[in-house]
Amino acid sequence: MCGLIGYVGDEPAAAVLSGALARLEYRGYDSAGVAILNDGIIILAKDKGKLADVIKACKIDTLVGHVGIGHTRWATHGGVTKENAHPHCDDKNQIAVVHNGIIENCVELRARLSRKYKFISDTDTEVIPHLIREYIDSGLTFERAVFAAARELKGSYAILAVSMLEPEKVVAVRKESPLVIGLGVKSNYIGSDALSFLPYTKNVIFLEDNERAVITKDKVTVYNEDHEELTQKVTQIQWEWKAGTKGNYDYYMLKEIEEQPQVIRQSIMQDNNLINRMAIEILRARQVVFVGCGSSRNAALIGRYAFSKIGHVFSDVILGSEFGYFSESVDKRTLVIALSQSGETADVLDGVKQAKTNGATVFSLVNVAGSSLARMSDKVLCLNGGPEIGVAATKSFMAELCLLYLLAFAMDGTLEKGRGMLRDVSDLVEADLPRHSSRIPGIANRLKEREDFYFLARGINFAMAGEGALKLKEISYVHAEGMPAGELKHGTLALIDNGTPVVVICPTDYTFTDTITNIMEAKARGAHIIGISNSAESVFNDCIMISKVDEVLYPLVTTIPLQLLAYHSALARGLDPDKPRNLAKSVTVK
Ligand code: G6P
Repeated sequence: MCGLIGYVGDEPAAAVLSGALARLEYRGYDSAGVAILNDGIIILAKDKGKLADVIKACKIDTLVGHVGIGHTRWATHGGVTKENAHPHCDDKNQIAVVHNGIIENCVELRARLSRKYKFISDTDTEVIPHLIREYIDSGLTFERAVFAAARELKGSYAILAVSMLEPEKVVAVRKESPLVIGLGVKSNYIGSDALSFLPYTKNVIFLEDNERAVITKDKVTVYNEDHEELTQKVTQIQWEWKAGTKGNYDYYMLKEIEEQPQVIRQSIMQDNNLINRMAIEILRARQVVFVGCGSSRNAALIGRYAFSKIGHVFSDVILGSEFGYFSESVDKRTLVIALSQSGETADVLDGVKQAKTNGATVFSLVNVAGSSLARMSDKVLCLNGGPEIGVAATKSFMAELCLLYLLAFAMDGTLEKGRGMLRDVSDLVEADLPRHSSRIPGIANRLKEREDFYFLARGINFAMAGEGALKLKEISYVHAEGMPAGELKHGTLALIDNGTPVVVICPTDYTFTDTITNIMEAKARGAHIIGISNSAESVFNDCIMISKVDEVLYPLVTTIPLQLLAYHSALARGLDPDKPRNLAKSVTVK
């Protein structure tokens, strides 16, 4: 959801910004641009298109200067055009701004400012440089003008600004959109995440809401809203930046899928005391509510079954964007468990803020340590999945499942036994991989002309049907629906026709017999059945074999085949699975 980077130092800014933007591209990739200060003037280079193309077309590598800001865009206000790409400048080209978030009062501000200044884009962002200009024209310094402008903005924003009036600095403000400062040697950085500058430094300061910062080559100063200087809380990032590279793989998604056996082993390495304390609080809570979006929400749905089956606790799952509408039912006896790879999904953060206001306790499961969600939670479990770059969640989903199982086992008093079972499953998942890698591309290829897919399952596997459909939609752009198999006959069966692909997840567990009955109903209407099971049933037209595991753990062995089916379907259709159209990995707007 838009990636920002700012740099001040001895290195050529163009190289630092280009590299950082490549690491931020997962946040948005419809346009890109930089503004670099050279000899007291701002050089602006931006265009629509993927970063590599923009760098080439605008010759960004050749730009000279040691101070600059950069942006990768995921369009919210205004179409994908060169004019709407960031950075945006004031009338005199003395100020350049990049922004992530949404300026809610942009219509009023634009009406006022357009009487004085010429607007050239359709974005909400463009009000910011003009507003800063207005404050400078009224006598404020650039730095003070940025802070004054921020006071007028409503909505969510992370903003970086540079100006030829004070050319040695990047000025930053944050409200509800992430910004992290990186402390280097004779160089400092500020980005939407720490991965952006991780090759240079692991020492970071997370900006909190309404904080501001001024970054020069030798100094970083952080202020609160009242312009009081704050003591800096420096923390160390644990990730290695090489873990966020593609290695020998063509796509991050495949790399991240194949890392999953190891991710299972890493994710279950948790502090027993913490897990047990969390389990006790879950057992004591009056109600337990999961909150998440996208794949994290699907993981929560599986957690709900695991909590019931293993931990004997009933819970509910509410989407991040719907959470606020249940606020009357959330109170201090409510335990909210928030799941998020990024820890920055705006809808989840909104729900969690609401829950905290109502006095609820908040636990979170996050992959990005130090993320906004982690910082606002009472207790945090880190997924330990390492950087996930592919836009479609893969290994973070697997790690979320593992942590939910661990909590469920702890609630049952069988944490160590459960951890052993999860470790055993990681070996089976690894053993299954070569078989999936040789079988699934052929299936995906045969079905590449089909435009409608249905995914069916029951019980704890039902959310896997949703997750399989979500993966396919995200990266292959085909219509896919995942549903409880029992619901098929209540409407969707009308859509099944000759050759309609129906993916069914039916291991020989407690759901098997009833699921087979539902497949028969679909098959009788001509459906092409792709079965994911540990038993090769004759009703399947195609069969993807998985290992036999304990019946509550089947989601762990069905995750990879479903992800690979989506991945190979995208390749068969000539699509880039890492950068699906219209989507972004970290959705920091509502
Ligand atoms: C975006 C991504 C999804 C992800 C969802 C939630 O929509 O494209 O893959 O599942 O956000 O992200 P989170 O970081 O909160 O898990």
